Amino acid sequence: MSTGSTLRVGIIGTGIMGAGHARFLTDHISSATVTALFDVDTKRAETLAGELGGSITIHSSAESLFNDPGIDAAIICSPDGLHVEHQRLAIKRGIPTLCEKPIATTVADARAIASEIAEYEKSQGKTMIHFGFMRRFDPGFVELKKKMHSGIYGKPLYIRVTARNVSSNGIISPGLFTNIAVHDFDIIRWMTGDTWREVSSFYPPRSTQGDSSVGDPLVFVARGDKGFLFVEDVFAYGNYGYDVRYEAVCENGAIEVANHGDVITRHNQEAGSPKAGTMDENWIPRFEKAYIEELRAWVTAIASGVPNPDLATADDALKAAEACQLGVASLPHMG
Ligand code: NAI
Repeated sequence: MSTGSTLRVGIIGTGIMGAGHARFLTDHISSATVTALFDVDTKRAETLAGELGGSITIHSSAESLFNDPGIDAAIICSPDGLHVEHQRLAIKRGIPTLCEKPIATTVADARAIASEIAEYEKSQGKTMIHFGFMRRFDPGFVELKKKMHSGIYGKPLYIRVTARNVSSNGIISPGLFTNIAVHDFDIIRWMTGDTWREVSSFYPPRSTQGDSSVGDPLVFVARGDKGFLFVEDVFAYGNYGYDVRYEAVCENGAIEVANHGDVITRHNQEAGSPKAGTMDENWIPRFEKAYIEELRAWVTAIASGVPNPDLATADDALKAAEACQLGVASLPHMG
């Protein structure tokens, strides 16, 4: 840590997520500061550095960023296919790191890197690499989990999930699991403790609004090892607005995280009503608070040395990757 206990953070990849994390750290986390950036698109990194202000080193490779004595921690926001390579650099340099999901692009790679991380973390005696499953810090999801286990609504039985993007440029059919539903496999496991053992998928009539090679939308059912179940519709090209909703159905009532993150319940013949209004274009505004609280938790855990059990670990990221593999294997043939 630098003088005054400010955590100096280097960021790899300055696209939507890298720039988002950089802005959230700069604007909301006073105990951290961005001191280094790397992107293959140097201009993009320079433009972001100019916007953030302060003294920021622009690097010409990920290795050079990890070797910078001016960083105490790093965030990996490079494209999915580079995450394993960048996690290995973090291990080599012993730098606490937050890596965006996914842990890897194949389950074989996910298992290999998770086991390398486990060995490394054992030698360090603490978790060194966390993963960007930020919904664990969304106030709506935190409240849903609390209410589900409060006993007021009875035993939780299943969750109904809606996960609809406006558009998902470049997505391919398996990406409906690996890029979108991956968050739901993680967050519902975090809520219930179930690890996903079975996934069944179904295609409703295909939408003509997106990419014709993508099986979109998709409906699937997942069952966990303790018997919990969730049913989800995923829509990569939903067009009308970013629409993420969760409803936990319990024996005596239902709890919903509605489109704007507000939580409503249906209980004792009383139904709450969700907030109306303009829908978001994408996940950044909807989950802004979650991203900020995730960063705050990560910075605090590094500074204090006290682990935060809500920060996702390599094992959590591996479990999400394994669930996605079950999902992809269950995709029906597209007619
Ligand atoms: P993006 O395409 O906006 O940004 C990626 C950046 O990486 C670009 O600036 C690109 O120039 C740069 N890049 C390409 N090759 C590179 C290399 N070899 N080294 C360093 N940088 C390189 O993508 P986005 O949306 O920012 O996604 C980044 C990561 O975050 C992905 O892994 C994605 O899956 C994940 N993600 C996580 C979300 C979450 O909610 N937790 C939401 C969206 C994305």
